[in-house]
Amino acid sequence: MHPRHWHEAARARILAHALAATGEPENVQVNASALLAFDDEWRLASSLGAHLGIEPQQIERHCFPDGELKLRLPERLPHRVVLLRGLHQPNEKLVELLLAAPAARELGARRITLVCPYLAYMRQDVAFQPGEAVSQRHVGALLAHLVDGVVTIDPHLHRIDSLDTVIPGVRCTALSAAEAIGAWVAARRADALLLGPDEESLQWVARAAQATGLDHAVCRKQRLGDRDVRIALPDIDWAGRPVVLMDDVASTGRTLVETARACLAAGARSVDVAVTHALFVGDALAQLRAAGVGEIWSTDAVPHGSSVVSVAQMLADAVRELS
Ligand code: R5P
Repeated sequence: MHPRHWHEAARARILAHALAATGEPENVQVNASALLAFDDEWRLASSLGAHLGIEPQQIERHCFPDGELKLRLPERLPHRVVLLRGLHQPNEKLVELLLAAPAARELGARRITLVCPYLAYMRQDVAFQPGEAVSQRHVGALLAHLVDGVVTIDPHLHRIDSLDTVIPGVRCTALSAAEAIGAWVAARRADALLLGPDEESLQWVARAAQATGLDHAVCRKQRLGDRDVRIALPDIDWAGRPVVLMDDVASTGRTLVETARACLAAGARSVDVAVTHALFVGDALAQLRAAGVGEIWSTDAVPHGSSVVSVAQMLADAVRELS
């Protein structure tokens, strides 16, 4: 059976089971929408809810001593459910989705739109070594099995153009925060050079530059290990230039650290950082400061202290269009 048909059949089975188990939901406006979210994303849930005109409802989590998870959703749900779950620290959150989506169907949901501001597992899009799992494809297939629509921001699509290919049979919207980040930067560093650390970042840097009129360029990157990155700067005059490094995601921060060091060594006046997804794991922030980075800005797609650009409005607009 074609994977797409398999997903549709699986979804139909879950829905049939849900209706058999609960019948039509009582005491709930079936044509309304519910917005479900978890406590650690409550800030974004509240602003998303404000833009959608829906009060978010919390999915309660309990983690048992052995690591198993129990979720508790509202007892009754309308047909349309918007589920906010970003996939930073992805493994635990994928299990949450694995439980939350079918549970929502059992409680009345017929159409689930997943708002996943940070969509993890998109970087492993081919088998770089024989035998490697192509995580992008398998996580995409899992999501296709669970939900009916996906809204995300700046997914790391490199060799694959469209998210619809990654999550087959599901309506997907891939937004970009590049213009919003560009506007934030332009208002603070009017003469900045927007610099992407690798060729893949050109898609975001070019969008931001086009929206703001700022100059842009990208480096060449070689990754030798999780925390071992080499950067080659483009051949331009760096003397006295304010540089803002821009990327979709900062994880260990080593990509940005090496780029910042290279820029400052080449004579750049200052280096600031602006990213969509602020993962900043481990000592990433300390390493960036030690490398001479000034400001660190990000969106609120991932909850983080550096968040200054809100993505709530664009998420809400996309949800409305998908519903
Ligand atoms: C990959 O190409 C991404 O765009 C980022 O550049 C990368 O994931 C950053 O990782 P890290 O912060 O660990 O260097």
